[in-house]
Amino acid sequence: MPTPQSPIGIFDSGVGGLSVLQALRHELPHEQFVYLADSGNAPYGDARGDAFVQERTLAIARYLRQQHDIKILVIACNTATAAAIELLRAQMPELPVIGVEPAIKPASFSSQTHHVGVMATRATVSSQRVARLVAEHGQRAEFHLMACDGLAKAIERSTEQPLPENADATETRALCAKYTEALGSFGQKTGQMDTLVLGCTHYIFVKDDLRALLGPDIQFLDTGAPVARQTRRMLEQRALLAPEMDTELHFAQPAQIQLMTTGALTALQAAGERWLELPASCCTHVSVPSANTASTEVPA
Ligand code: DGL
Repeated sequence: MPTPQSPIGIFDSGVGGLSVLQALRHELPHEQFVYLADSGNAPYGDARGDAFVQERTLAIARYLRQQHDIKILVIACNTATAAAIELLRAQMPELPVIGVEPAIKPASFSSQTHHVGVMATRATVSSQRVARLVAEHGQRAEFHLMACDGLAKAIERSTEQPLPENADATETRALCAKYTEALGSFGQKTGQMDTLVLGCTHYIFVKDDLRALLGPDIQFLDTGAPVARQTRRMLEQRALLAPEMDTELHFAQPAQIQLMTTGALTALQAAGERWLELPASCCTHVSVPSANTASTEVPA
């Protein structure tokens, strides 16, 4: 049975959700976090299909509850949220779950030109969830959706080598150029897109490349910070916030963040170190059995 001291569980198809963990850590510095990167099965969003992503989401949620007694789960993946959050809530109603979705609503309010580019995985772009969001907010702005095949995968690969020499970082830059060009014209003039929604948590890590391509005046929107605030609210409502303690002391504790991967350990270690300044000792390799073969028991 989770308590306020129990960890917050976070998962993504890979390292992209570390961008959400960054925001969570900032918003909730007194919490313990367990992060699972399903990099052995990434990417989810190019061609895996909803059934596969649903199965992985259920398996990972069950694993994090059984092994870590998590008190809340943050699905730090737009693709898994779109495919599986409703199913997960129906199957585990007692587990508080928060998902991420492309920042279409905030973009519809903040774009001055009323033209917004949205970069996301193919699965997210073609999901009912995004169709609903666009229908709901499409009166205020025109949304230009781009399925960025291969980009999350290239970002996963690029974590394995130090920048800037590695070929995969060059690949991510080329893909960013290809997809922003295909989206159309960015700028502040009538008909141009003045806002870009980063609708995949991996893409936050190529923000600098996108900024170099689009210039300083384009607004980038992601949902890390709002999701972190929503996590705080949900924990508060359930009296599950961790008790505050001296932050310096807390940061000194080695177990505050645990990172796990179903893929290459070295890649997660490199990503954790580069993006969150975490030591390699925070990282472990794990196996997460499929939802169909795993025990169906979860803690009450
Ligand atoms: N990071 C994920 C997202 O936010 C998925 C990337 C992928 O595995 O395709 O959509």
